[in-house]
Amino acid sequence: MADIETLKQETRVFNASDAFKENATISGMDAYNAMCADAAQDYEGFWASLARENLEWKKPFTQILDESNAPFYKWFDDGLLNVSYNCLDRNLENGNADKIAVIFEADGGQVTKVTYRELHQQVCKFANGLKSLGIKKSDRVVIYMPMSVEGIVAMQACARIGATHSVVFGGFSAKSLQERIIDAGAVTVITADQQVRGGKHLPLKIIVDEALALGGCEAVRNVIVYQRTGADVGVTAGRDLLMSELVASQSDVCEPEWVSAEHPLFILYTSGSTGTPKGVQHSSGGYLLWAMLTMKWTFDIKPDDIFWCTADIGWVTGHTYIAYGPLAVGATEIVFEGIPTFPNAGRFWDMIARHKATIFYTAPTAIRSLIKAADADEKIHPDRYDLSSLRLLGSVGEPINPEAWMWYYKHIGRENCPIVDTFWQTETGGHMITPLPGATPMVPGSCTLPLPGIMAAIVDETGADLPNGQGGILVVKRPWPSMIRTIWNDPERFKKSYFPEELGGKTYLAGDGAIRSAETGNFTITGRIDDVLNVSGHRMGTMEIESALVAHPLVAEAAVVGKPDETTGESICAFVVLKRSRPTGDEAKQIAKELRDWVAKEIGPIAKPKEIRFGDNLPKTRSGKIMRRLLRLLAKGEAITQDISTLENPAILDQLKDAQ
Ligand code: WTA
Repeated sequence: MADIETLKQETRVFNASDAFKENATISGMDAYNAMCADAAQDYEGFWASLARENLEWKKPFTQILDESNAPFYKWFDDGLLNVSYNCLDRNLENGNADKIAVIFEADGGQVTKVTYRELHQQVCKFANGLKSLGIKKSDRVVIYMPMSVEGIVAMQACARIGATHSVVFGGFSAKSLQERIIDAGAVTVITADQQVRGGKHLPLKIIVDEALALGGCEAVRNVIVYQRTGADVGVTAGRDLLMSELVASQSDVCEPEWVSAEHPLFILYTSGSTGTPKGVQHSSGGYLLWAMLTMKWTFDIKPDDIFWCTADIGWVTGHTYIAYGPLAVGATEIVFEGIPTFPNAGRFWDMIARHKATIFYTAPTAIRSLIKAADADEKIHPDRYDLSSLRLLGSVGEPINPEAWMWYYKHIGRENCPIVDTFWQTETGGHMITPLPGATPMVPGSCTLPLPGIMAAIVDETGADLPNGQGGILVVKRPWPSMIRTIWNDPERFKKSYFPEELGGKTYLAGDGAIRSAETGNFTITGRIDDVLNVSGHRMGTMEIESALVAHPLVAEAAVVGKPDETTGESICAFVVLKRSRPTGDEAKQIAKELRDWVAKEIGPIAKPKEIRFGDNLPKTRSGKIMRRLLRLLAKGEAITQDISTLENPAILDQLKDAQ
């Protein structure tokens, strides 16, 4: 991984071809600067006209931004609309009815194409099915599904009837699922019998059963099961229903529920620096507006594009750039069930070639692991595939190091595709800082400039602006339409996490550090400033993993830190003190394995520590505070040169340095 010093010195600059620029929705820096100037001059007017032009309103809004209860901002609050209507019905009316909405490719390679008309029918039938179960506006529905057309249908159907969905990634454990079901107060869970990934059938419905059996989920009346594999996964009478049976007799006409622009479209749980995951609540109008605009601006989407975002619908990227954004702009998108390495690591390149994808959006971790795979086996090297359909590439979820950027640019984009390195977060709803492909000069490793209307800045701890060239805290100074509205069930935590008093209470704190180039003003993200890790683009709180570890009967104490990793960006390193004596050798290996499996069961396999080191104790200050700063250095294998005089037990550092 490139460190920040190398990134600061990166001087290579790349520009889109003249042909790309000429046809781009936002063409040239003058156009970009003019939009930024519009936003600066009349901020509300800028957003209001975009909202009028891009969304179809049942009742137009008269209020734009309501700041009276800051930081609980409201946008377009008295306007009425429906997100599913905007994504589907609108396409039937404007000539896209027979256009392919989704090209679905199953893990095993089977391809299903669904037109806008068919998707609309499926969504209406399922929405009617949900209504027949008594699910109504504002009820919460948890979706625990594989990558599938049905997963998108479930999300859109909730949106259609005004139910608020909460998608839980299919890799989370029964316990994580249970916690989310309880916090959301879900009345229904939609799942599949199994998911298929890399040729393996993995459980879903059984995990739902386990989650509900853990207790506290009494509000759940029904579990709806999409039959992906047809495996026998048991039926709880009176509670479980098959999706196919539920929709069989339903009408394909379903009047949308018209909701306020502020109506919560979804809650998506994400990790923060303290214990439990936060239910990030998003709106309907402002969220969809930004999903559409970023499809147009960042992805320069055109009617003939074949758009492919490789994220999972369980993450925010899959919400904005699979379930909503592409449909709202009437695009054709690829949805992939499987993994990039099955049946071999050429799968992505093969799929781009077969489906003639024009825009490809993936995570740096995937790129880095496919670089390794291509180096190891030239039969699946991307140079062997016809990738000539591509015209634009994107990166998301974590910093992309310049070496990976260059490889992506050269071997996937064939030096002919701009790369948009999109910085954003679950909380921001859509892209925040990113190149515009037909305008912004691109610098590997930098997400470049904020989108028009996004007032990003870098400040110090007191909220004072810092000059370019000086690293600091990334903030957004004005509310924007697709921002998080609150943390579900915890408005106080919302205020404390994102609008801290130290910054004045009205400035959005992203949780990342950043620096702007003194020459170009380009932003480079320097990493989280809190205890959040980013492993393969998955966000995880160190506290969550620590709580899982100390819940194990053998563990007395645990501290988790991130360690730079060549492939996954960061990896999890846990320092553990057992209630018994410190294990060594094979016994240490054995207990480490047990603890890893335990974490997988408590949270999910993505949270498994890569490395576990046992000690008699942890480095602590005299007041008993664990010195994580030192643990981070130990994890990296770096020498500790700073003052450790405040340390209660300096000898422990030597032990942990070499520990297994
Ligand atoms: C990181 C994913 C550098 C960042 C959309 C942020 C990035 C966190 C980038 C959000 C990028 C995301 N460059 N870092 N282009 N994109 N991040 O909520 O630390 O899963 O705060 O949203 O990922 O992760 P989340």
